Amino acid sequence: MTPKSVRFSLNKLFLLYLLVTNETIACGPGRGPGKRRGTRKRTPLVFKQHIPNVSENTVGASGNYEGKITKLDPRFKDMVKNMNPNIIFRDEEDNNEDRMMSKRCKDKLNTLAIAVMNEWPGVKLRVTEAWDTEGHHAPTSLHYEGRAVDITTSDRERSRYGMLARLAVEAGFDWVYYESRSHIHCSVRSDSVAASNYGGCFPMSGQVTAKGKGTLELSKLKIGDEVLALNNKGKLEYSEVIAFLDIKDDTSGHFYSLETENGYKVHLTGKHLIYTSDTNRTSFVVGSVNSQFEAIYADHTQIGDFLLTVDGKSNVRTSAIRSVKLETKQGMVAPLTKAGTIVVDGIVVSCYAFINNDQIAHASFSFLRGLHDIYSYLPFVSWSKTSMASYSIDGIHWYAKLLFNVAPYFMGRDSLYMND
Ligand SMILES: *[C@@H]1O[C@H](CO)[C@@H](O)[C@H](O)[C@H]1NC(C)=O
Ligand SMILES: *[C@@H]1O[C@H](CO)[C@@H](O)[C@H](O)[C@H]1NC(C)=O
Repeated sequence: MTPKSVRFSLNKLFLLYLLVTNETIACGPGRGPGKRRGTRKRTPLVFKQHIPNVSENTVGASGNYEGKITKLDPRFKDMVKNMNPNIIFRDEEDNNEDRMMSKRCKDKLNTLAIAVMNEWPGVKLRVTEAWDTEGHHAPTSLHYEGRAVDITTSDRERSRYGMLARLAVEAGFDWVYYESRSHIHCSVRSDSVAASNYGGCFPMSGQVTAKGKGTLELSKLKIGDEVLALNNKGKLEYSEVIAFLDIKDDTSGHFYSLETENGYKVHLTGKHLIYTSDTNRTSFVVGSVNSQFEAIYADHTQIGDFLLTVDGKSNVRTSAIRSVKLETKQGMVAPLTKAGTIVVDGIVVSCYAFINNDQIAHASFSFLRGLHDIYSYLPFVSWSKTSMASYSIDGIHWYAKLLFNVAPYFMGRDSLYMND
């Protein structure tokens, strides 16, 4: 068989596998965005707080202003009308223009509408301001591009707005701002930027500890190396690198830089998962139903959240985040260990990105781990030399791509950070 046909039959096998083992991946429609998960408390945003903690028109948030869209603009035909009956539009212009928005904005708004109804039965999401065709906003406002909305709850109960903002963050808006006492402002990346914005990674300069090799830059890490990781009992162990889910030497990217009180600093992309807790804990269990530390997107972390740090003597300690910044760094890499966790720059992080639940992510990769285990029993064949271990020309591992394509059908779109 050619590598291509091997891959094709593997893909079919994998689909079958997903169908028969749906207890691992099919958390499905039941796990909506409004449901609470894990031990983490939801904290309402405070007045004037925005998440992420960078300005709106930066790459780490909703990105550059791309210019006003009018009905004559070629981009107008890419806008969509949101007729969701669960959203109340104030529609003050009385011409349905408030219902016109970018696809991504519509998607996030619809997710939020469900979250609002789950959180407060009988209450709906209300949009007071959306696409602006008349110039009521500041010169580079994303309202002119149909990718910003101002929202309230239908009962206009101001005491709910801080929590409404938190729900908007969870719904996947790229920038959420408690702008005024009377509304929350939310915006998204433009559809074109969002579509090209893959990558859940570390920069090449990130450091790991490899068995027999000591401290190693991620650029030097190889499949088959065993690196320091945390197992699901909260203990450090060496875990084998079985694949790179993404590798790009030549691109630079925007990374969140999270620094802890005890001086550790890790860089990772916004939709990569990191283990956090909002309270100081004495048990370090991650990646299981008893998790004390929950995996959340790096761009959802806040100052004061506790991370797990590992010193040179391999002691795990909790330390609170002292600063959250956005930095540009060269190269992107995402190693996958058998454990599904890895210690990078002295901080315990997940190997996964884009899926907002590391246990589902880890379960989804059990097929690849199984393939790896089979290969390790075969004489004369090295896993790292097979096409199964390798990534494609664009640097993304075939299995990760496949998973990303099929996962929405099994897990529901809300569990995933979707770019389209
Ligand atoms: C967290 O708990 C550890 C161990 O109990 C303790 O040493 C540390 O000082 C605590 N940190 C904070 C910020 O409370
Ligand atoms: C946001 O960033 C500013 C400036 O970098 C910092 O002073 C502030 O504490 C940050 N706030 C949060 C909630 O992270």
